[in-house]
Amino acid sequence: MKHVYKQSTSADCTCLMFIVNTAEMLLLISIATVLLSVSAQHNLTPFGKASQSSQYFYGRPVNAINPPISNTFDNDYCSHTNLEKTAAWWMFQISFGTAYITDITIYYRENFARRMDGFKLYVTNTSTIPPAGYLCYEDPDPGLPNITQTIPCNQLGQYVIYFDNKGSQENETRYDGPVVELCYVAINGCPKSFWGNKCDKGCSENCVGRHCQPRNGSCVIGCNTKHCLNDICDKQTAVCTDGCKERRTGNYCSKYNIASEGLVSQTPSGSQPANLANDGYKISCSKTKGITVIFQVDLQKESIVTGVHITFGESTTREGIHTIYASNTSTSWKSGTILYKETSLPSEINLHAVFRYLTYESSVESFFSELEVCEIGIVGCPPSYYGPVCNQSCSKTCNGPCDLDTGKCIFGCLNGWRGDKCEQACKAGTYGKDCLATCSTNCLNQQCYGVTGECFEGCNDGWQGFDCSQRCPTGQFGKNCSMLCKGCVSGMCDPSNGLCNITTACNPGYINGKYCDTTCADGFYGRNCQQVCSPLCLHQPCERRKGECIGGCVHGLQGFNCTQVSANKENIASPVMTQVGLFTGGFLFGALTASLVCYIVTKKRQERNKQGNENTTPGTQSREQQHYEDVRMENVSTYEELTKDSMSNEYDQINTAYVNH
Ligand SMILES: *[C@@H]1O[C@H](CO)[C@@H](O)[C@H](O)[C@H]1NC(C)=O
Ligand SMILES: *[C@@H]1O[C@H](CO)[C@@H](O)[C@H](O)[C@H]1NC(C)=O
Ligand SMILES: *[C@@H]1O[C@H](CO)[C@@H](O)[C@H](O)[C@H]1NC(C)=O
Ligand SMILES: *[C@@H]1O[C@H](CO)[C@@H](O)[C@H](O)[C@H]1NC(C)=O
Ligand SMILES: *[C@@H]1O[C@H](CO)[C@@H](O)[C@H](O)[C@H]1NC(C)=O
Repeated sequence: MKHVYKQSTSADCTCLMFIVNTAEMLLLISIATVLLSVSAQHNLTPFGKASQSSQYFYGRPVNAINPPISNTFDNDYCSHTNLEKTAAWWMFQISFGTAYITDITIYYRENFARRMDGFKLYVTNTSTIPPAGYLCYEDPDPGLPNITQTIPCNQLGQYVIYFDNKGSQENETRYDGPVVELCYVAINGCPKSFWGNKCDKGCSENCVGRHCQPRNGSCVIGCNTKHCLNDICDKQTAVCTDGCKERRTGNYCSKYNIASEGLVSQTPSGSQPANLANDGYKISCSKTKGITVIFQVDLQKESIVTGVHITFGESTTREGIHTIYASNTSTSWKSGTILYKETSLPSEINLHAVFRYLTYESSVESFFSELEVCEIGIVGCPPSYYGPVCNQSCSKTCNGPCDLDTGKCIFGCLNGWRGDKCEQACKAGTYGKDCLATCSTNCLNQQCYGVTGECFEGCNDGWQGFDCSQRCPTGQFGKNCSMLCKGCVSGMCDPSNGLCNITTACNPGYINGKYCDTTCADGFYGRNCQQVCSPLCLHQPCERRKGECIGGCVHGLQGFNCTQVSANKENIASPVMTQVGLFTGGFLFGALTASLVCYIVTKKRQERNKQGNENTTPGTQSREQQHYEDVRMENVSTYEELTKDSMSNEYDQINTAYVNH
């Protein structure tokens, strides 16, 4: 019986989806897709529910919003109330809220115009009965109404009420109370602030209350002049007729215009200056002509641009190809990006590009082109601002400008920050670009500054540098590498804890096991601190490594450990003293030579023994070998030092003593 449903189209109904956010509405839309489309105007009855004052038999209120679209009566087709005593009514409530209702179409039961006589049609914001709202129509007297009517209403509201409080004269003998029998009702309009056949166009923000005619989008109440130049706007279209104030652009002056701060130029220089094109006034125009004419805007910085609005003057040549280029250099715009290339003049271009120069070029072959630019608007924001009128600041931690709509940092964040708007600092233990780097494991507690990766509590023992990536230099260890392991053989130790690389011996002057971190007690020196300082030193203790008398010698003696008679003394000393000195000198020299030879021999033997011993130690051989080399090298140089410096000096001094006598 209701097979008509299947023939309906779905296109008209799906469009409402964007104003709907409840599951209920989505359900209604899916129902709506199997319903019908009535006319160009949008029927809102799929989005809401019908009710009535009472129900006669199967005459349900919903029958009036379901097909068939006719006056044919059937209890399945039409709504039907009882005969009421005072008033009968049928009501439709729009579920999504307020709609702008343009007109209402009614199909009343055929041959029953007498029952319709005197009806009233309301659009209201409440379900009150009797209706309290806007009376769209009242059937006039005398005469019976047409049972099929389309009634214009043009009213904002949420309810449509068909109201009848006038009874009917059924025949000469019978007078009945009011009754409602609606076979079909279509309520045409759009949700508030939308227009178009599919209600998919938003009303201009420049319409007062963002309220426009569903049929053509023209403002219902009027237009806002606030941002319009000279406070003039077109009441129908809401367009700011003369131009924009406040560095704005667009038909409704709703967007920020970065061209207003740009530098404009035209080639040839023309009869009206270029800067009339970015002064906000559509009435004043720049003007030039030539074989090729060029108009250029320098935004002075590479900027994110989302739109271009150009108003050309009457005299602009329309023939030829019109091209708009975006580039980052003023001269080689042709190698930039083409934003527009058509045979018609551009007026409004939507885009998303980053550039500094916008260049318009018209090309008409073998022809003089004229160019009159009355206003050019480039939609964008000054650096580090966003929003339609650029009054919101990008996050300071954005790496460059942010998205003009959302404020997201589209070029990423500065080091140390993360998140869409770079509002979050790096988590503890991470740093750098997108917080992807991990703090050095050598940082104390693995904590570092998010921006640089610098360890903020210093380094673990054995490491140094701002990110603690460097080992302590050889010979240094501990916190901040502040300790020296000079007691270790070859001065090499573990950078963290100072454990000597060679743990079997210490440098002369040091003792204490594997760390060699204790100097000889006062009065002792040498390997294992076994040597006793010379008693001839003027001050004790002596130098701990080699036993030198560092504070000088007791009276009359000199030398490394004060075993020489002072040579200076001799010149002024008595012959006896010289004799004594000579004798002592000779004696000491003999003794010294003897003991030195002895020392070297012993030393070499010890060395050889030691080497032999160690070589027999299993498992450690190869690793230890390197250390030996070092040790031997070290020891050799120590000898040399000893031989060259100390000994030769002493020889010299002794020889001098002989020569000088
Ligand atoms: C319904 O309310 C809107 C404001 O939400 C108002 O503009 C409109 O005039 C009201 N309609 C009626 C019929 O009172
Ligand atoms: C009744 O309305 C229909 C459709 O609106 C129209 O075609 C018809 O001419 C009207 N009849 C009268 C008598 O007004
Ligand atoms: C201008 O330079 C920016 C980078 O600084 C680049 O993203 C953009 O694509 C360039 N624009 C053109 C038109 O070459
Ligand atoms: C930006 O301007 C809009 C419109 O003028 C205004 O509603 C909004 O409050 C402003 N925002 C800020 C952060 O100033
Ligand atoms: C003086 O030094 C030499 C070697 O440098 C050493 O053999 C000698 O024992 C030292 N004399 C004294 C008194 O310490």
